[in-house]
Amino acid sequence: MQRTTGRGPLVSSQGTGFRNCDILTKMVLRHFFLVLYYLFARHLPRSNASYAFLSESIRYWICKHLFAECGRDVNIEQGAWFGSGQHVRIGDNSGIGINCYMAMATIGKDVRMGPDVILQSGDHVFSERDKPIRLQGYTEPRPIVIEDDVYIGARVIILPGRKIGRGAVIGSGAVVTKDVPEYAVVAGNPARIVKYRGAPRECEG
Ligand SMILES: CC(C)(COP(=O)(O)OP(=O)(O)OC[C@H]1O[C@@H](n2cnc3c(N)ncnc32)[C@H](O)[C@@H]1OP(=O)(O)O)[C@@H](O)C(=O)NCCC(=O)NCCS
Repeated sequence: MQRTTGRGPLVSSQGTGFRNCDILTKMVLRHFFLVLYYLFARHLPRSNASYAFLSESIRYWICKHLFAECGRDVNIEQGAWFGSGQHVRIGDNSGIGINCYMAMATIGKDVRMGPDVILQSGDHVFSERDKPIRLQGYTEPRPIVIEDDVYIGARVIILPGRKIGRGAVIGSGAVVTKDVPEYAVVAGNPARIVKYRGAPRECEG
């Protein structure tokens, strides 16, 4: 599977990284890259450290083989956790911040992310009172969608299935419980719209 964006083709693990391999080889390669990432590359220095050397390039190269789609010049920061990566799609010039956590997300182009952001796509079932929550299983995971040119501040939590509209800004520490409209600046817990980018304050929602 391969799709194109405004700036060029996204690299797909199904379409590019393992294109000519049979199923068994694909599985072995995928596990190899996962081990390489989680035991080694994930712990390399953050990209802007003076001693980072090839950290950014190594993480990028590995993630191109793991993600469902991976654009050009994507920066995966130190400590990022994304499960198997099979449910992560990310567009050109976007980044996954230091120690960020996600398992199922579609991230557009030019997305900036501060450290410790959590994109939470799953939840526990807890409807039955007489059964421990740990035995009730999980809800169906709901992917998070982040459109192009979004800026997510440090320590933001985005709850399952939420969509962040193009050009939105999420203030540090926000807990996003609802979809965020395009170009909105939201902050707080629960996140509320504080203004719109480029709009005079009297027009804010
Ligand atoms: C959201 C943010 C971008 C807004 O910046 P700004 O345009 O300068 O906005 P202002 O400082 O004018 O704030 C507007 C209002 O939102 C509130 N606000 C701003 N950021 C907030 C936050 N993180 N949490 C709660 N409220 C916040 C302000 O108190 C202000 O409220 P008021 O109108 O009642 O006084 C900025 O505050 C922020 O959180 N940046 C993220 C920083 C970060 O995580 N950096 C990591 C970089 S990798």
